[in-house]
Amino acid sequence: MQFRLEQLNLKEYEGDVVLLYGSEVADRCLPLSKKELEFLKARREEKADAIVTFDRLPYHIYIVNFDSEKSPSICQEHLRRSAAKVVEMLKANKVAAIAVTGEGAIPEEMVAFLEGLYLADYTFDRYKTESPAHVSDVTIESAFISQEELDRNVKLWNRIFWCREWVNLPVADFNAEEFASELEEIAQDLGVKCSVFDKKQIESLRMGGLTAVNKGSVDEPRFVVMEYAPKDAVNEKPVALVGKGVMYDTGGLNIKPDDYMQEMKSDMAGAATMASVLFAAADNGLPIHLVALLPLTDSRPGFNAYAADDVLTMYDGTTVEVVNTDAEGRLILADAIAYAVANYDPELVVDAATLTGAAVRAIGTYGIAAMQQGADNAFNLMKIMSNQVYERIAEFPFWDEYDELIKSEVADIKNCGIAQAGTITAGKFLAHFAKKVPYIHLDIAGVAYFSKKQEYYAHGGSGYGIRMLYAFLQTYEMLKNN
Ligand code: BES
Ligand code: ZN
Ligand code: ZN
Repeated sequence: MQFRLEQLNLKEYEGDVVLLYGSEVADRCLPLSKKELEFLKARREEKADAIVTFDRLPYHIYIVNFDSEKSPSICQEHLRRSAAKVVEMLKANKVAAIAVTGEGAIPEEMVAFLEGLYLADYTFDRYKTESPAHVSDVTIESAFISQEELDRNVKLWNRIFWCREWVNLPVADFNAEEFASELEEIAQDLGVKCSVFDKKQIESLRMGGLTAVNKGSVDEPRFVVMEYAPKDAVNEKPVALVGKGVMYDTGGLNIKPDDYMQEMKSDMAGAATMASVLFAAADNGLPIHLVALLPLTDSRPGFNAYAADDVLTMYDGTTVEVVNTDAEGRLILADAIAYAVANYDPELVVDAATLTGAAVRAIGTYGIAAMQQGADNAFNLMKIMSNQVYERIAEFPFWDEYDELIKSEVADIKNCGIAQAGTITAGKFLAHFAKKVPYIHLDIAGVAYFSKKQEYYAHGGSGYGIRMLYAFLQTYEMLKNN
């Protein structure tokens, strides 16, 4: 999708136009007859968020009503969702080029609408022999937004696009090695430091979790470490972003039954998310020192696959009893978190992982299940930003009692507890490896991949959480100043 800023003269404009109509201020510039205006007002009374179209054949005017009196986050989310509806209409009408304007709309509202357009237009086209319809050209009335602000946003949205592509690629075409080399290439272009550890190096680092999960696979694992350290960073000690990169989760020897395996190509969404966040920060020169730590492997029951009852020694020396090979994500993440803590002295560790089905059962597909240990301030800020961009986090309890559930008879801890509180015990397992470092765990199992299109999130990989984490990092300075 291409965006262009221009001075628009609506009365003379020939083409399809979208008008954001938030308040009566807009009346002045509406290219409507008195009758049409009355019709519009009646529709607006009836339904404050109606989308009303007028024929100007061969073109259309799409009027997107919204209530500018509502709280900014609600109003902006409404505009994103309306944009998704407009995209549907445009595609149905085979329209590829539009102009967007809206007297009285503020820049944030315009950006939210454009964000919705960009995100909703996405489909995964790689394997389609005929390329599907897209909204390709968007002309924006330049009074609303500067070129610079537009460019910064487009860069972020482009990272979401790539995150979705990675998540949607099946493992046959995208294994750990391929993902790692793609990341390395992008990092190089951006001047981000990137080290890729191969199987031998992972073994000699004694990463018992990542090594074990990879044992049943023919494809090698990778451990990708990227560092973005701008000169003007507000933090000396980095923020570590850890992402679960299970390229495909068969469950291993505790193989997934029935159709539970479908969609498990998305089990690397945490890694894709964290890489995308770091790249977006680098794209836009955010003044924050970041490291991303991404353990990558698929999990299969082949060859010498690891088994329940195995005892693993992790990077930090902790011994882990394997109870279920399908709880593999926490094993590879544990090594990555421990590696971050031991080698980067981070001031905060945040991980993102499609970690538990229990998270989906608890809160459905409407947000992220989140936990924290010693990170109250950062978590509060994250919560505020998550509500603002409408990629929400819901805090789960992290009481000491849950620690009891992962104690093991034969090792220090075990990789899963009882059936209850599965999302929390998974978080507790990881928190063990963060030690005293402030730690936030984001279980994105419910939101990383949508089985059917949800508002402006496409079918498939969503990139959910990238906007939230980016907004968090953008305001991170606030934590330092108080
Ligand atoms: N990748 C899955 C979790 C998952 C499930 C993500 C559904 C997205 C949608 C994870 O590795 C897993 O298999 N977790 C098990 C843990 C259990 C064995 C303790 C689960 O949730 O059932
Ligand atoms: Zn699993
Ligand atoms: Zn998994």
